[in-house]
Amino acid sequence: MKKLHDRYFKQAKREGHLARSYYKLEELDRRNNLFRKNDRVLDLGACPGSWLEYILETVGEGGVACAVDLNPIDPRFKGRVTFRKTDIRELAPDEFREVTDFFDAVVSDMAPSTSGIKSIDQARSQELCETAFAYAEKVLKPGGNFVCKVLEGPDFQYFRQQLKPRFREIKTQKPDASRDESMETYLIGLGFSLPPKVEKELPPKVVEARKKARRKRDRRK
Ligand SMILES: C[S@@+](CC[C@H](N)C(=O)[O-])C[C@H]1O[C@@H](n2cnc3c(N)ncnc32)[C@H](O)[C@@H]1O
Repeated sequence: MKKLHDRYFKQAKREGHLARSYYKLEELDRRNNLFRKNDRVLDLGACPGSWLEYILETVGEGGVACAVDLNPIDPRFKGRVTFRKTDIRELAPDEFREVTDFFDAVVSDMAPSTSGIKSIDQARSQELCETAFAYAEKVLKPGGNFVCKVLEGPDFQYFRQQLKPRFREIKTQKPDASRDESMETYLIGLGFSLPPKVEKELPPKVVEARKKARRKRDRRK
């Protein structure tokens, strides 16, 4: 089985992509329509940048890509991606204001450095997912999409339940390019919405921007 999956590694080399992960996002997008042309997308845990390659191809010249990682992304993205080399936990809510206030999609492929102890790695991954969603909640526009990589552990179902009322649809998928022996899976939230109570507490400028985004989305339907 491992042999079969090695074909993604070879394919990435042949097609000049930075990593096999490119095909994971491609499949998740094909199955869920995550991105559209001209979308603004935030990529959390973006290094070296194969998801960014896919995102830029998909959103096109009119789109916006922002990214965060503890490590630098490939120099090929200079001038095309607004990048912060930092820990996601240090990210300010208005970090990307210079390019956009809201995103159409927030995706996270963040993975903790592995200890080899399953329960520790799962707990660290869970924490990254929760941090990714807490950030996404602040910057996703209504109707936006969310993806995060999870190493499924005991808290996963609880996390999934927490996300459920915040999206039109929640799914869990393991793309073909993900190694069978890997514990990873992807949680996908489609059609984000803020609870009305939370929206009421936002500054009027932000509420107005969200309404505008909602009207724009409705016109696109
Ligand atoms: C599997 S790699 C991402 C691969 C990337 N999606 C691609 O396609 O090239 C996981 C990344 O998560 C990053 N990461 C882990 N913890 C992080 C944190 N707290 N803040 C920001 N990035 C983090 C790691 O530095 C690593 O580069």
